[in-house]
Amino acid sequence: MLETLETPDQILADLWTRLEAGVRDNDHPFRLAVTGTIGSARGDSSPDLRIVVIRWTDIAQRRIRFFTDRRSAKFAQLTARPALMLHFYDREQTLQLRIGCDVTIHTADAIADAAWATTPESNRANYAGLHVPGTIIDHPEQGWPAPNADGRPNFAVIVCVATEIDWLHIGRRGHRRVRFTWSGDQWNGAWVAP
Ligand SMILES: Cc1cc2nc3c(=O)[nH]c(=O)nc-3n(C[C@H](O)[C@H](O)[C@H](O)COP(=O)(O)O)c2cc1C
Repeated sequence: MLETLETPDQILADLWTRLEAGVRDNDHPFRLAVTGTIGSARGDSSPDLRIVVIRWTDIAQRRIRFFTDRRSAKFAQLTARPALMLHFYDREQTLQLRIGCDVTIHTADAIADAAWATTPESNRANYAGLHVPGTIIDHPEQGWPAPNADGRPNFAVIVCVATEIDWLHIGRRGHRRVRFTWSGDQWNGAWVAP
């Protein structure tokens, strides 16, 4: 399928379609992304990585959203430096996407309220732990949601605004790679050596 895409424009349209499919389908490989930030749990400036669930995408606005706990290390890192890389990998298609983004953080505004309103109780519990993520505890159970605790104060929506996309397909007939950069009003795609 990816072999039939002939131009960077076709590839750009296809990759956003795949990102949208990831939001709809729990089993899609693009349901999850690895986020790369600067600033480790130790508080220095080394790289840090972790997986998140992609909750929403918008092609026209170049936006991708995930949710997190505002007490987490990643939240502090993004507050200090509001940019990240999203890494996606589709093993079956041997397709890698790296999306460089600027970030806006939403905790107590309409975007966060609307996201919380559509978040089921089972997921809300993820934000209802009494301990800050990463705190040393005596037993694993101490890190579980506290009964009746309100997770809303800890809930944050991270909106990633894509500014660059690196698309790489490891194909049987040859590897192909495109780098897309946002110019301010359009995407410019260029083939680059894989
Ligand atoms: C399958 C899976 C999905 C995850 N989804 C999220 C998520 O959507 N948001 C999130 O903040 N953490 C998510 N996590 C946990 C993070 O990867 C990370 O371990 C945690 O948020 C602590 O990160 P920190 O480094 O910011 O403290 C997920 C982990 C796994 C394994």
